[in-house]
Parts: sequence; structure tokens; C-alpha cells
Amino acid sequence: MMTRTHHCGDLRKEHASQNVTLMGWVHRRRDHGGLIFIDLRDHTGITQIVFNPDINATSHTDAHTLRSEYVLAVTGTVMIRPEETENQAISTGEIEVFVNKLDILNISKTPPFLLEDDSGADEPIRMKYRYLDLRRAPMQRALRMRHESLHMIREYLHAQDMIEVETPMLTKSTPEGARDYLVPSRTHPGAFFALPQSPQLFKQLLMISGMDRYYQIARCFRDEDLRMDRQPEFTQIDIECAFVTRENMFELIEPIIVKLFKEFRQVDVPQPFPRMSYQTVMEHYGSDKPDLRYDMLLHDVSHIVSDSGFKVFKDAIAKGGVVKGLSISGMADASRGETDGLTATAQKLGAKGLAWIKIIDAGFESPILKFLGEPAAQELAKTLGGKPGDLLIFVADQYNVAVSVLGTLRIELATQRNVIPKNTVAPLWVTDFPLLEKGQGETRYTAIHHPFTAPFDGDIDKLDTDPTKAKAKAYDLVINGYEIGGGSIRIHQHSIQQKMLTLLGISEDEAQAKFGFLLDALEFGAPPHGGIAIGFDRLVMLLTEAPSIRDIIAFPKTQSATCPLTDAPSSITPAQLREVHLKTLERTP
Ligand code: AMO
Ligand code: AMP
Repeated sequence: MMTRTHHCGDLRKEHASQNVTLMGWVHRRRDHGGLIFIDLRDHTGITQIVFNPDINATSHTDAHTLRSEYVLAVTGTVMIRPEETENQAISTGEIEVFVNKLDILNISKTPPFLLEDDSGADEPIRMKYRYLDLRRAPMQRALRMRHESLHMIREYLHAQDMIEVETPMLTKSTPEGARDYLVPSRTHPGAFFALPQSPQLFKQLLMISGMDRYYQIARCFRDEDLRMDRQPEFTQIDIECAFVTRENMFELIEPIIVKLFKEFRQVDVPQPFPRMSYQTVMEHYGSDKPDLRYDMLLHDVSHIVSDSGFKVFKDAIAKGGVVKGLSISGMADASRGETDGLTATAQKLGAKGLAWIKIIDAGFESPILKFLGEPAAQELAKTLGGKPGDLLIFVADQYNVAVSVLGTLRIELATQRNVIPKNTVAPLWVTDFPLLEKGQGETRYTAIHHPFTAPFDGDIDKLDTDPTKAKAKAYDLVINGYEIGGGSIRIHQHSIQQKMLTLLGISEDEAQAKFGFLLDALEFGAPPHGGIAIGFDRLVMLLTEAPSIRDIIAFPKTQSATCPLTDAPSSITPAQLREVHLKTLERTP
């Protein structure tokens, strides 16, 4: 075989008259009055190669047989293209290579879709032929950016005196709130490993081991309902440090986030990142992962309408609820259909209704104006920052319903109305989460972050008196409305960990069986420690502006957690089942 001298994206005018050897795939073929033109493609780009019967008649004859995705090695001379045939769209557009030797390294079936920037193909077919999909330039770019960013992160963490330690994949269930993927044991009938939902307990053990500063590019597995930004297996940049405060964690993470967005998006992200308490973000954005690229803040207007003439508002407040509102810039021209549509959406989201006021030059227009009166409308407009041309919307309900409905409408309207600035990166630390929550009618508490997160020092007493009032030393990193990372300072005292597990309804026996190894370790001089895990796939999604998490993973799973390429998950033979001591109840054919 010939030896490759250049890549398909390398050649420029200054290479003119050099003899070169290129290898790659046939991207396109065009026949023109005796000459055959091929766009030859590799991971670096495209070079136009030309077959001229006068230069090499055999190669020219062979070139007639070339089809899309044939694999070639060609040797030829670099020629400057006549000006009128230059192609500005590609980096090698000023030259072409006249071929004097062609070697067909492999043939190809016709691909099931176009390998262009926009393949026009549906995702299932792209996933089935992923190796072809990945030949496309946008996918090449995304995976190469993923690699570059990972490389940068590793370098950074190494420079921060952190050591990478691999923790087991075959392990015991870690409670991160999702279902486990299980692996049956052959040697221990009826026993199972769980694939890690995160390395949480191992990284804590590493702190107890005196490793001081750990990181791992960790694969995590969670059997949960999938969404646009979730995969059943995904990658975390997992971090844990001994003797740290949450400030230390913020100082560790912020510079690398800034560096990545500068490098890959050319955006300057100012430091320090803003911090807001969970209570504040719920109050003003109706979400624990608010998108700070635009304002549209939610405001409580209960005090303005508590004794107004509008019964819906008055009654809601009398029942312990609130009235929250927000102003939508420039939407006072909404048609009846549009306001009805907003109301229907609010109801679908769980509100009983939606009230609105249009601010127009002449004053206000609203079905509830006659009940509220002009002065209250003035006051509402002022509180919400509304100006003529804006639409004010209100939901009266229990606090949680009111903020979550308006929070969702805020995002939908901002997207629909195109108010989200492009090329802006708005990070935020959300802090001071509640430690525990308890659903209505439930007897036990659940941990909001995870059961190993420490309460505020001043709130430890509340674990005995009023656990839901205790705040957690937990923090989330949110960027542009995505939860990019989450972490906490951990419980390092055995007695508090035990108390926490009791609150979660886990008996001492059960705790010993599930996390006995951690509880034991906490009794051998565990240092104070804390950490964070950054969702690497979500981060890359933002760095590459990919519409879906699947576009930045080489071999992703579908929404229903299958792999169309390998057909996993699939059934196994009766012998394999017997070997791991299993019998199945149902079987998908
Ligand atoms: P948490 O469960 O918040 O914390 O996960 C950390 C980050 O991982 C990402 N992530 C996901 N990404 C893609 N697909 C998923 N299914 C998925 N689930 C989570 C998110 C999330 O912010 N052990 C703790 C971390 C700690 O306390 O240090 C943990 O796993 O971006
Ligand atoms: P009604 O009195 O139910 O006819 O409602 C009068 C107006 O108030 C309608 O525009 C409703 O959509 C709106 N509305 C009803 N319930 C609520 C609520 N809980 N919060 C905000 N607006 C509401």
C-alpha cells in the first residue's frame, strides 16, 4: 500500500506542483467532459481529485467504477485551480490534485442516508448505522471537541494536585435516586452486583483513605426515564476533596468552566459565578435550574391583591396560597387565541387558571380589570416591571403550583418569543437546598441530594425537631437552564450519618447491610470532605451547542434505552441463564 503524505484537509496553494498521496472516502463523484472529479474525504476535510484520461488512462477507466464511500489511496500532483473554479466553501478550495495513481482499498454499499452536514435521516436509522453517521463532519467535530475538552479537564485537574483513581463497576447499589442496572453473579447464586449510579461511596472512602484530592472520569449507570438531556449510561467528572469548604469547590470548578467556554465557544464567562439560594431561585424563576440568560422574573403580588375585588385571587390567598405574576415583554398584542392558549397550558401544568392584563397606551385591558380596579393594576405593573406593550400573567394557587407553572411558562415564552440571547453563557451556583423532603401522606423523608450530604452545622438540632427545615450543604452548578453538576459537603461523623439514615426510614440492620462499609469507615477517623460531579455529556452538549445529548456520545441509547446498532438489550441463551442461576418470567422475542 502507498504511504499517506497528507490529509484531505491539508493542501493549499503553497503545495502546488508537489506530488502527494491522500487516502479517504469518495464523498461525491462528478463526470465532466472526459474529466472525472471526486471529492475525497477524511476526518480533516475534503480535497477535489481529478482523473484525466491523458495523464493516466487506466486510473481514469477505474475512476468510472468509483461510488460513494469507496475507500481510495491516490497519488497525484497538486495544481492551483483556475480562479473561476475555486471553492470558497472548503479549506482546500484553491487547489485540486491530478491523479496519476489510483488504488481502490475497498468498495462500499450505497449508504442508507447522505453523509452530508444535514443527513436528512431520522435518528433511528442514524443510530443503526452509527459508524456511517459518525463519518459526517458535524459528528466528527463534536466527538473531537469532546476529546479536546476532556483532555483540557484532565490537565487542569492534574495541575490541581488531584489524582485519578478508578472505582469498581461491579459494585453495590448506591442511592442516587434511580433504579440500578444489575449484574447477576455466577459464583454466588441469587446474588447481584449493581453498576454504579455514581462513585459516591467509593470517593468518600478514598477521602477516608487519605487520598486528599481525587477525580475520575466516571461512567455512571441509571435506569430511569430518559429525556433530551439524560442517558442510561453517562459520564461524570467526579471529584472529592478532604478538608474543604463549598467555597473551595466553587474555586476549583469555576476556572475550568470559564476556560472551556472561552476555548470552545469564544465566550468570556465572568467569575465568580453568581450564587443564589434554592429559595431565591424558586421564588424568582420557579425552577431549581433557572436559565439566567434572560430576566422575566416571577414576583409575589399577593400583598397587592389580597383584598381586591377579584374573588379568585382573594380566595387563593385566604386558603394559604399566593398570587405570582410575571411580565412578558411586547406581548400586549396577544390575540384571544393566544391568551386562551396560555391559560390552557397553565391548566395542563396544574394551575386552576391564568389571569392576564395587557398594558396598552390608554391604560390596561383585562377581563379582571373591573374586579381589580386601575390602581391595583398600576401597582401590579410596577411590581412586575411591565411597560406599555407588555402582557402581565398571574397564577393564584398554593406556592409550589404557582411558581412551577409560571416557571415553566417563563421558559416556554422566552423560547417562543426568541428573547434568549445567542452566545451567552450564564452559570449559577444554587445553594442552601433543603436537606430532606416529605411528600404528602408519606411517612418517611427522602434526601434531596443524597443521604450522605451534610446539614448546615446550625441545623443539626432540627434533625430531631423539624427535619424538613434543615438546610443542606449542597450545591448545583446550573448553566443556561441545565443542571450541569451537583455536589455537597458530606457527613463525616458516624452518629449524624446514622441519624440521617434513620430519618430516611432505613433501619439500622438495613443500613448495615447496604452501607455498612461506609458506616464502619466513618468510625476510623474520617476527615471532613466534600465534592461534586459534573455531568460531562451535558457540559459537552453546551460546549458544542448540540440539540441532543445523543449527538455528543459516540454510541448512545435511544429514548427507550436500547441500542439500535447492536440490538442491545437482547435475550440470552437458556444455558447462559442457568449459569447465572436465573429464570425469566417474561421474554421479549
Ligand atoms: P447527581 O446525581 O446530581 O450527583 O449527578 C451529577 C451530574 O450528573 C449529570 N447526570 C446525568 N447526565 C446524563 N444522563 C443522566 N441520566 C444523568 N444523571 C445525572 C447531571 C448531574 O448534575 N454523587 C453525586 C455527586 C456528588 O454529590 O458529588 C451525583 O451523582 O449533570
Ligand atoms: P373564573 O372566575 O373562573 O371565570 O376566572 C376568571 C379569570 O381568572 C379567567 O381568566 C381564569 O382563567 C382566571 N383564573 C381562574 N383561576 C385562576 C387562578 N387560580 N389563578 C389565576 N387566574 C385564574
